Amino acid sequence: MSGAVEIGKGLYLIGVKDPGLTVFDDLFPTQYGTTYNSYLVRGATHSAIIDTVKAKRFDEFLANLTSIMDPAEVDYVVVNHSEPDHSGSLSLLLKHCPKAVVVASQAARTFLGNQIHHPFESRIVKDNDLLELGGRTLRFVSAPHLHWPDTMFTLIEGEGVLFSCDAFGAHYSGEGIYADEMPDNLLGETRFYYDCLMRAFKERILNAVAKLDGIELKLLAPSHGPIYRADARKPVEAYRTWSQPKAGGKRIAIFYLSPHGNTEKMAEAVAKGATQAGVVVTQCHINHASVSDIRDLMEESDALIFGCPTINRDIPKPMWDVLAYLSTVSLKGNLGGIFGSFGWSGEACRMLEDRLKGMNFKLPVPFVRAPFMPKPEAFADCEALGRVIAEEVLKK
Ligand code: FEO
Repeated sequence: MSGAVEIGKGLYLIGVKDPGLTVFDDLFPTQYGTTYNSYLVRGATHSAIIDTVKAKRFDEFLANLTSIMDPAEVDYVVVNHSEPDHSGSLSLLLKHCPKAVVVASQAARTFLGNQIHHPFESRIVKDNDLLELGGRTLRFVSAPHLHWPDTMFTLIEGEGVLFSCDAFGAHYSGEGIYADEMPDNLLGETRFYYDCLMRAFKERILNAVAKLDGIELKLLAPSHGPIYRADARKPVEAYRTWSQPKAGGKRIAIFYLSPHGNTEKMAEAVAKGATQAGVVVTQCHINHASVSDIRDLMEESDALIFGCPTINRDIPKPMWDVLAYLSTVSLKGNLGGIFGSFGWSGEACRMLEDRLKGMNFKLPVPFVRAPFMPKPEAFADCEALGRVIAEEVLKK
């Protein structure tokens, strides 16, 4: 944005655009850049800023604020979430807003204490606490883990204006500022953003979305990307749909790699044992499945079993990538198993065990490891591994 934009009576967008950003948080590609949205809400007696912007964009942000009011007159800075793309300018801003009180959740206040190394006035707020601005009231809605433990939303009571921070946003820096001014691909980018940042917290998302039921949303103002004025419920309902638990019976997924077919034969034996015990088993050769399919399968399954060869004393990279997805999805449980064929060393099973235990997985059966072409007793062990894990699944 270049300059502040009035988006309602006494309500301004004072954030900045970052269209050139190509990677967010050193993690996620941002094909359309991003924006760091900050808002100014003015009541009859008090004014509040909702979130700030990345520190490197502070000067532009301050100019936007100053074009509307004297920063020295700002009463509150609400921190919906303390990640530095929103709180990075806070320390700088407070130098220009000497009477401003920082309003935040307990977790956000704690995190800010580790980011800002000088004293500042603050007020801790909880779910449904109110803040009077004179003729208009802010209400805080706790939304932990969307996507940090500190996250909350801020509502303007009775006006249908929601400042949702990261939730419902997109890394999307378009020509205008409103969603209805953007091309049709905005929802797709919103889904990509959800998959990158939010997907691991589906239950929390459903809880937070439920708190918005019964509120007529007229303006949904996230901290990244366009603002929704028409159909402001659209991204909220999309989040609800994307976060629904999958229906279906008890399921086990087997993710495997098999350069010479031996680990695949072990996977078949594991599947046989589990199927005979009465669960549905999906065998997934990870090089023949998309990332999306693998993540969906992880979320649909009650237990995850990994079959992995050892290459150069290590887990091969495609399997490391699959293991990295574990922290990006909402798992139904933490039950697992491990097996694999190897040539001359065989470290992969032990390394998998360390990784899964590090993710709090319960491994009811020791891993089954066999050199080159497994002998019949190794296949029998694989069947037993599948059977025992299936029995554990059926107990749940
Ligand atoms: Fe946009 Fe979690 O910061």
